[in-house]
Amino acid sequence: MNSDSDLQIAGDILEVQHLLQPAREHPATVSEFVGLARSIAADRARWADLVRYDSASRWYHRLHQGPGYEVWLLSWVPGQGSGLHDHGGSAGVLTVLEGELTERTERGARSLGTGAQRAFAPGYVHEVVNDSLEPAVSLHVYYPGLTEMPMHATQAAAATAVDAAHAADPTAVDTVPA
Ligand SMILES: [Fe+2]
Repeated sequence: MNSDSDLQIAGDILEVQHLLQPAREHPATVSEFVGLARSIAADRARWADLVRYDSASRWYHRLHQGPGYEVWLLSWVPGQGSGLHDHGGSAGVLTVLEGELTERTERGARSLGTGAQRAFAPGYVHEVVNDSLEPAVSLHVYYPGLTEMPMHATQAAAATAVDAAHAADPTAVDTVPA
C-alpha cells in the first residue's frame, strides 16, 4: 500500500462526505482538514527547518492558527510518548511527516509510517509513542483548537498511582498537544 494514501479513520467522523464542495479559504470539514495536513506535509520548506528535537521533553510548535482550528508541529525522539490521553472537545487529524510513530488505543497498537493520517472525533483516547530508533515528526490539526488534553491512567500507571496517591494530583491536565 502506498503510505501517502494510508488514511485510517477512527470512528464515524467521515460518514458525511464533503468531497464535492468547492475549496474554501479555510478548511471546515474533516476531509478539508485532511487535505490541509497533506498539503503542509508535502511542503517541507514550510516546516522542516522549524523542527527541533528535545530529549528532555517533547518539543512542539504551533505552526498555524485559522478560524476555529490550530495546526501543531511535534517532534519525537526515540522512546518519547504522549501518555494515554483524549483531546477534550477537539476533533483532530494526525499526520506523520517523518519517521514512524506507534498509536495505541484500547483496540491495540498500529504503526503509522511517514504519510499516514488518523482522523479522530472528540473523546477519542489514544497514546502516541516513537517506538522506533529514529526521530519522528508529526503534524496535528485540532478543531476547535486544543484547550485541554486530559490524561488517562493506563493499567501500569494506575498501579503506580495507588502507591503515589498522596503525592500526585490525579486531575492534572497535560496541555502539550499530541
Ligand atoms: Fe492525541
